[in-house]
Amino acid sequence: MTKKRTLITAALPYVNNVPHLGNVIPTLSADVYHRFLKLSGHESIYICGTDEHGTRTEIEAAQRNMSPDDYCRELHAKILKLYNWLGIEFDNFGRTSSRENHKLTQEIFLNLYKNNYIFEDTITQLYCKNCERYLPDTYVEGECPHCKSGDAKGDQCDECLKVLEPGELVNPKCKICGSTPEIRETKHLFLDLPKLSHQLENWINSTNWTGIIKNLPLAWIKEGLKPRCITRDLKWGVPVPLDGFEDKVFYVWFDAPIGYIASTAEYAEKTGSDWKPWWKNNDANVVHFIGKDNVPFHAIIWPSMLIGARDNWNLPSYISSNEYLNYEGGQFSKSRKRGVFSSDIINLKFTPDVWRFYLMIIRPEAKDADFDWKDLMDKVNNELIGNFGNFINRTITFTHKNFGEIPGAEYSEEDKETINAVEYLLKEAGSEIKAAKIKEALKTVLRISDLGNKYFQKNKPWELVKEDKKRCAAVLNVCCNIAGTLAVAIAPFMPETAENIWKQLGNGDSVRNREWKIRELPANQKLNKPEILFEKIPQKLINEYEKQFAGREFKVQEKEECLFEKLDLRVAEITEVDDHPDADKLYKLKINIGTEERQIVAGLKNYYDKEELRGRIIVVLLNLEPAVIRGVESEGMLLAADDGKNVKVLDSDESPAGAVVFVEGVKQNKIKIIKYDDFIKCKMTADESGRILYKNKPLKTESGEIKASGVKKGAKVR
Ligand code: MF3
Ligand code: ZN
Repeated sequence: MTKKRTLITAALPYVNNVPHLGNVIPTLSADVYHRFLKLSGHESIYICGTDEHGTRTEIEAAQRNMSPDDYCRELHAKILKLYNWLGIEFDNFGRTSSRENHKLTQEIFLNLYKNNYIFEDTITQLYCKNCERYLPDTYVEGECPHCKSGDAKGDQCDECLKVLEPGELVNPKCKICGSTPEIRETKHLFLDLPKLSHQLENWINSTNWTGIIKNLPLAWIKEGLKPRCITRDLKWGVPVPLDGFEDKVFYVWFDAPIGYIASTAEYAEKTGSDWKPWWKNNDANVVHFIGKDNVPFHAIIWPSMLIGARDNWNLPSYISSNEYLNYEGGQFSKSRKRGVFSSDIINLKFTPDVWRFYLMIIRPEAKDADFDWKDLMDKVNNELIGNFGNFINRTITFTHKNFGEIPGAEYSEEDKETINAVEYLLKEAGSEIKAAKIKEALKTVLRISDLGNKYFQKNKPWELVKEDKKRCAAVLNVCCNIAGTLAVAIAPFMPETAENIWKQLGNGDSVRNREWKIRELPANQKLNKPEILFEKIPQKLINEYEKQFAGREFKVQEKEECLFEKLDLRVAEITEVDDHPDADKLYKLKINIGTEERQIVAGLKNYYDKEELRGRIIVVLLNLEPAVIRGVESEGMLLAADDGKNVKVLDSDESPAGAVVFVEGVKQNKIKIIKYDDFIKCKMTADESGRILYKNKPLKTESGEIKASGVKKGAKVR
């Protein structure tokens, strides 16, 4: 962080959606980052707001007999309230429909126009005759022309992240009435991305970024950027200040990021300061927190707009993009009432800090993550309470009882080493937050309390208090200072908890005025009455919430859920292959499952030669009801994946015969015998690389994952 100030943003939430927990990840991450920068004495502000334009607002406001402005104002306040509840502190939370944003959007557009980065072209638009309107991005769905995913939106496919132009969708359908829209030609304005491509590439190459924020733009540039249509036939939006375009407004994604600047301008006006140093002449870092579906807009289109406007705009210094958060192995869905939304959490039994803790400890940093109630309970009860809370509580309780204050100390060598180790971990957590590795940082903070617990345990102050009061004082002094350090270290993640610990340690001020440094609390400082920090989450509550938020498919899922645990799946080696004497599609196999040999019948003759099977490692279901198949006994079933065309056996090269096949998070609860009809209800399918998934999680053994190479994504295991 070489520049002296940092402007932080989180993706502006669409005003029409109640953010679900996945949507909250960037907003919360930015808050942690911001709180950390402030503790480290770095000047920073956190800017956000609602993304308000677009048809959806227009339609929904009309349905309620409200003006779009009134409607948005109401929703804006609602969203802000949810974020406030979560302890997210913005320096300004603006609205893209603000006058300031209209002004800036038109200004930036006119500069792009003047610099010849805007051109006019006729495009095909989708028009729904039934609804009598042009169908903008969110009101049409269809197949993605690139990856063939079935539910691409009008402007982007969330599966392959490609951005789409209106009219590119295959088999489009109007989302309002379901009819097939017709294609109409209209005149629109385009941002000339091909012309900006070279400058964009130079800039991207000049960054020290890694991962998707660098690779995705470079890959798209290499493929050749396409011009981006930036106008739409709507009313609710920023008017296009150009003759002949009076009926049109800008595309939401054109004015939305400019909303970051407009919201900063509002902040400046509020505080009587100037917004320009945040956005011009490279005086400030600009750091964006977003979800990965927003990467093309933030790493390609937005910087291109700023480059093309040529007004010394600051380009993003860093973009922290997180992967997706799933809900119990599937997607969040408001319409199916599946998953937890920010409007729900206010009514549940957990404090804002507990939500913040869980969302940050599972933050989908390097890969997608799963919100899972049992996991929440485990992490809160074991890691947060069992480790962190336990250390703080035992330290303060024991010290309060025996000394009433922070005892004075003469440190031993071990004490000094412990303090150094804490200091090291605190620095490490700081570097991790700086690098936007927020989940890693939180884990590092937990390592501090773990270290504290070990130190407490080893030194046994409950014995020292009787035998060696002086030594006891030193040990508790160290523990109190670790607790003080933890108050600072946890402050960005769990601000209320941090204040609570800080107060219990007898400090009169707020921990937010302190620095990201190891604490040296004054000896003889009186402690306050110790209080438990967190309440244990009971299993019963979790069961209740699981049901409450499972959505409409709950019944089916519940049934299915029990199935995988009942399967006895093992890796086996085929030792002998013979033709079935009486059936021309079947083989009779001998298999070795480590502890015994079995005979099974498999319908593989059309797909594999005998030589291909001999010695091969496969996966078998051992507890299937034994059967006699055309006169030959079969004690189990070989598993294969079938995509309708190819049939491939499941295998796992790395695993020894007999290895148990499992899925992370599914406890085994095998039954003696399972019926075939029950087995096939347990849905296991292949993904694009042939991994076999059950509820989105891969089947594996201790040594590796189970695969079926050569079948299409979605192939079913039978
Ligand atoms: N509203 C968009 C979304 O939720 C994000 C807009 S971010 C901004 O996906 F940069 F355009 F502001
Ligand atoms: Zn796609």
